[in-house]
Amino acid sequence: MQKVDVVLGSFYGDEGKGKIIDYLGAKADVALRATGGNNAGHSIEVDSKKYVFHLIPSGILNEGTMAIIGNGVVIDPKVLIEEINSLKENGVDVSNLRISTKAHVIFPYHIEEDRMLESLRGSKKIGTTVRGIGPCYCDKYERSGIRIEDLYAKNFQELLKRNVEKKNKLFALYGFEEVDFEEIYKEYTEYANILKEYVTDTVTLLHKLIKEGKKIICEGAQATLLDIDFGSYPYVTSSNPTIGGILTGSGLNPKQIGEVYGVMKAYSSRVGAGPYVTEQDNEIGDLIRELGHEYGATTKRPRRCGYLDLVALRYAVLINGITALCMNHLDTVLKLDTIKLCVGYERDGEIFEDFTTNEEELLKSVPVYEEFSGDLSDISQIRDFQDLPEVAKKYIERIEEFVGVPIKFIGVGAGREEIIVR
Ligand code: IMO
Ligand code: MG
Repeated sequence: MQKVDVVLGSFYGDEGKGKIIDYLGAKADVALRATGGNNAGHSIEVDSKKYVFHLIPSGILNEGTMAIIGNGVVIDPKVLIEEINSLKENGVDVSNLRISTKAHVIFPYHIEEDRMLESLRGSKKIGTTVRGIGPCYCDKYERSGIRIEDLYAKNFQELLKRNVEKKNKLFALYGFEEVDFEEIYKEYTEYANILKEYVTDTVTLLHKLIKEGKKIICEGAQATLLDIDFGSYPYVTSSNPTIGGILTGSGLNPKQIGEVYGVMKAYSSRVGAGPYVTEQDNEIGDLIRELGHEYGATTKRPRRCGYLDLVALRYAVLINGITALCMNHLDTVLKLDTIKLCVGYERDGEIFEDFTTNEEELLKSVPVYEEFSGDLSDISQIRDFQDLPEVAKKYIERIEEFVGVPIKFIGVGAGREEIIVR
């Protein structure tokens, strides 16, 4: 049986999942998204053209690859249609796109609610992407959500009306802008018509494809430390971007999973609020941001930057059963005079090697670093691990030793080809 390989974020997102998916996707028949929504932003550079994907699995760029959006994804149809159109304009064939009947739909009231909830949080803002992700997942679990298939159901109008009325009462209560039922109904009926050709039972489809021996790559969104259960709650997203979410978000079973690739950067970044032990809120962080172009693909926000945290990375390996790591931006980190690697958290005079999601403990944790010196030689043309500068090899081997998993892919530049495969 062909196994499904999964690509997941190991830190706080934006690890460069797109690049590795692009590499693996070239050999896949099917690209799958199972989690998150258009809070994700996956950039890929092909022939010096930059594509940013929010909902459609980026594997669709490979000719003939089927792209499936699974039931665990929350879909803003407006964004999805824009993405479809933009791909079509660039000559990409999207006839191979499939959308789950069971995926939940984001409505304008979810976006307004996201904005409202952030505002009510006062000084404890999460820094969400304000794409309506959290409120849409809340409705799903509250069981008032509207799924893709409901857009075509006889009672769609009734379901929508009930939700709009309820949300408007909430908006009125807190002095936020009310939404217009008629407008939304009309808009979403049009969206439903446009998307109809892609909608299908993706669970049945996936199992059929596996039976046919098709190679499937699952494209994770967000990341381990943004997980609602395993991340730094409440500064997380409203879903499980970890391995469990891949199963529940697609209908695949554990026996069908093959490699679990954990994507990471040679340094780290976080966008949005919340604890971040190795953050460099100083000129080092500014330098990393500029060298690594660390500005959000979705919200354009400058990302918080810092050193690589092996305590967190090993946690991601444990939670997800990561079998191999993919490290991006080795070229970037080598440009620093001194590269630091966090190998422990010190709290109250004691050193911990195990991650904690407790906010107070995280805020108190002082990183214990090992240091490496930078190397300014150009590594973008290197394709063999042995040809890397000594310091780079040592850095990589130390990471592997600490987390117990091999680093199989190493990004040495932004381009599609700039990668070392071991
Ligand atoms: P990709 O797939 C980085 C962060 C937001 C915020 C928190 C909650 O590109 O790695 P949400 O809108 O999900 O309710 O926001 O999660 N966040 C991400 N950060 N990369 C992402 O996706 C993210 N998706 C959500 O910044 O802190
Ligand atoms: Mg991103």
